[in-house]
Amino acid sequence: MLAGRFVLFLVILAAVSSVSYAADPDPLQDFCVGFNDSESAVLVNGKFCKNPEHVTPHDFVYSGLDIAGNTSNPLGSNLTQVFQDQLPGLNHQGVATVKIELAPKGLNPPHAHPRASEIIFVYQGTMYVGFVAANPSNPNLPNKLYAKILYPGQVYVFPRGAIHFQYNVGKTRAVAYASFNSQNPGVVRIASSLFGSEPPVDPVLLAKAFQIDVKSVEYLQSLTWT
Ligand SMILES: *[C@@H]1O[C@H](CO)[C@@H](O)[C@H](O)[C@H]1NC(C)=O
Ligand SMILES: *[C@@H]1O[C@H](CO)[C@@H](O)[C@H](O)[C@H]1NC(C)=O
Repeated sequence: MLAGRFVLFLVILAAVSSVSYAADPDPLQDFCVGFNDSESAVLVNGKFCKNPEHVTPHDFVYSGLDIAGNTSNPLGSNLTQVFQDQLPGLNHQGVATVKIELAPKGLNPPHAHPRASEIIFVYQGTMYVGFVAANPSNPNLPNKLYAKILYPGQVYVFPRGAIHFQYNVGKTRAVAYASFNSQNPGVVRIASSLFGSEPPVDPVLLAKAFQIDVKSVEYLQSLTWT
């Protein structure tokens, strides 16, 4: 009876902790270079593994992060993602990277990565960055913002799933490189997810959620979100 309860306790503990701490699984093989054709029957992240005999150094290379991105857009930002789709050799390795380029006053708008913690390294310029902690990390300080102005050579961490942003507060272009502990971190952009969804979220619902009027929501929904 007691042993049975103990086993039940262990099962519940395992279920709870696997939900709380789920992350990319540890690799079971050296690599699974992502491949979109049915060359092999083994799937990882929805990709087939390329036949190892056909894998070349080229599969582990992504080029062009040294080239300046075009920041002439309404946000004044340009992100170059190197996730599993851009670098097939990343598949299965639990890492990814992105280059963040911001024109003066450029913004990488509030967003979250559901599957990865993030660490950014500021290479050039001045960035105001921050994240809002998930509740209830500190019951006395709900929705606490952890924000800081960063200069070249500095590194900042964004916890997995936390809403965060980067904003160029300097007079020159700013560049940072971010790394993730997932090959497929995912991106949820708060404004475009809620106001640019297809089909649209009910504006009455959003008006209530944001404590604004329905007309303002309809205006936001009429804009182009990228
Ligand atoms: C980012 O820069 C690249 C290279 O200039 C450009 O092709 C791409 O359209 C830019 N992205 C945005 C969102 O402006
Ligand atoms: C950058 O993008 C803008 C808007 O799409 C475009 O007008 C401009 O020619 C681009 N600049 C470069 C250098 O490609």
